[in-house]
Amino acid sequence: MKRSFIDARIETMLSFCERFGVRLPPFALWGESDYRADPAAAARILEGGLGWNIVEFQPGAFAQAGLSVFTLRMGDWRHLSHGRGRLYAEKALFAEDGQRTPHHYHIVKTEDVVNRGGAKFVVELVKVDRAGAPLNERFRVLKDVKMLDLQPGARVTLEPGESLTLEPFVAHAFWAEGGATLAGEVSLANDDRSDNYFLPALPAPAPIDEDAPRRFVTVRDLPKLAPGA
Ligand SMILES: [Fe+2]
Repeated sequence: MKRSFIDARIETMLSFCERFGVRLPPFALWGESDYRADPAAAARILEGGLGWNIVEFQPGAFAQAGLSVFTLRMGDWRHLSHGRGRLYAEKALFAEDGQRTPHHYHIVKTEDVVNRGGAKFVVELVKVDRAGAPLNERFRVLKDVKMLDLQPGARVTLEPGESLTLEPFVAHAFWAEGGATLAGEVSLANDDRSDNYFLPALPAPAPIDEDAPRRFVTVRDLPKLAPGA
């Protein structure tokens, strides 16, 4: 994935956010010098996996299988057993027309996926067993305040403003339909490095081709900017 392509995707998401009145925190615009100027903040961003993540689920197929993500906040999942504190997380998601995030499930995280604005947002769902195998059974999912009773593989369409609660072991794929969608995720804190199970497992991401100077910092760049790096 080219650096210029990553930066262009971030610009596109920022202008879509602007259009829907969503402002991201100032560190969304930080460059490398801002990270170096505040090592404590940089360490916090690294620890939480905060900020930009331009994801290609299939290398080279961003338009069909990609997602632009900005993680605004991430609590500490190690505190979940204490039952109090910053146990929540929030992400902004931007899907372009037809761009699909493949089926995946979580073991720890319960999340609400929210259509914040734009086109329709379609979520395809199936319940899976402890090994990730799809179950041939109906299951219940909360859409805002209404409980839905769904068959395996059912699709739920979210209009702007609507949300769906996804519990652990409810595998979900989603995509924007009829235009681009700004979506959000409100969830339990979790470790994204160990709580995303894709069906099937994802290939390793393609390396970043530094074809142009970097304008934005992404989660893949963070380890290089952390204090002492
Ligand atoms: Fe998810």
